[in-house]
Amino acid sequence: MNTTLPAITWASARTTLMTGVLALMVAGCGQQAGEEAANDAPVPSAVAERQEGFKALGASFKLINDQLKTEAPDMAAIVPAAERMNVLASQIPGWFPAGTGPEDGVKTDALATVWSDPDGFSAAQARLSEATTRLQELAIAGDADAMREHVKVVGASCGGCHDNFRVEQ
Ligand code: HEC
Repeated sequence: MNTTLPAITWASARTTLMTGVLALMVAGCGQQAGEEAANDAPVPSAVAERQEGFKALGASFKLINDQLKTEAPDMAAIVPAAERMNVLASQIPGWFPAGTGPEDGVKTDALATVWSDPDGFSAAQARLSEATTRLQELAIAGDADAMREHVKVVGASCGGCHDNFRVEQ
């Protein structure tokens, strides 16, 4: 009897563990289902595309900022990231076609002001493009010190648009 006890204990421990894992998986699915139910309209590809674009913009900016915090920033990594930011910034105007705003029932963090205040939105986009053009120039020039100052201008242009055109995070 004693010899089978450890086996039973192990089996029940494994069952407990599996139940726990299953519970976690079910909880995860439930949450996802809930989120989808709250926004039952499909995410149009234009929204997915712009969110990917912004993620890429953010990732490149993070790479640059992380490098600039080091003593010897890796310019070979910074230059293409700055170029990528500049290209993405120039693409923003094409990322917000009509029919992809919150009033269209799609899941987006863009505010309706993107479409109701097109001049303000283009001005915010132009500020970013100007800032990323300069960032790229400084990267090509290999001027890490000037870049360290200029990333503040870039960051402010991200925030300037988010303040007026994106749901508060
Ligand atoms: C001209 C306006 C504008 C500028 C400039 C701007 N953003 Fe955004 N950003 C938005 C809007 C609007 C959204 C919400 C998009 C959506 O949910 O459909 C957004 C979303 C994002 C997201 C979330 C993407 C996701 O859904 O996962 C990130 C990250 C982001 N922006 C980073 C940046 C960074 C970094 C900069 C500056 C380098 C920047 N943005 C500049 C308007 C802007």
